[in-house]
Amino acid sequence: MGTNEKISVQVMDTNHTWKEIKAESGSILMRAITGAKMDMEASCDGECACSTCHVYIDPQWLQYLPAPEDEELMMIDYTDKPAKNSRLACQIKLSPELNGMKVTIIGK
Ligand code: FES
Repeated sequence: MGTNEKISVQVMDTNHTWKEIKAESGSILMRAITGAKMDMEASCDGECACSTCHVYIDPQWLQYLPAPEDEELMMIDYTDKPAKNSRLACQIKLSPELNGMKVTIIGK
């Protein structure tokens, strides 16, 4: 993949509608989702302090994500529906391995 190519992510919103979003490698998933005007609150603006950017990652992509920091795990525990594939979108940096990843917006 060339350096100018964007990473495509399929995102399901809270109305169960899928949307393909594209972002530069190195950008933050939460920024890509809010930038695409999808329904994600992200009320702490990426400080890992609100968990409103909670998403489920399609399990087949989990292996390409760096493990969450303790801070992120703690915030996920505070959400209503924590799952094994829960992550906070503000803590995920998009990399070429994540091209095609499927993500579901859950929210707090
Ligand atoms: S935006 Fe608040 S925890 Fe991600």
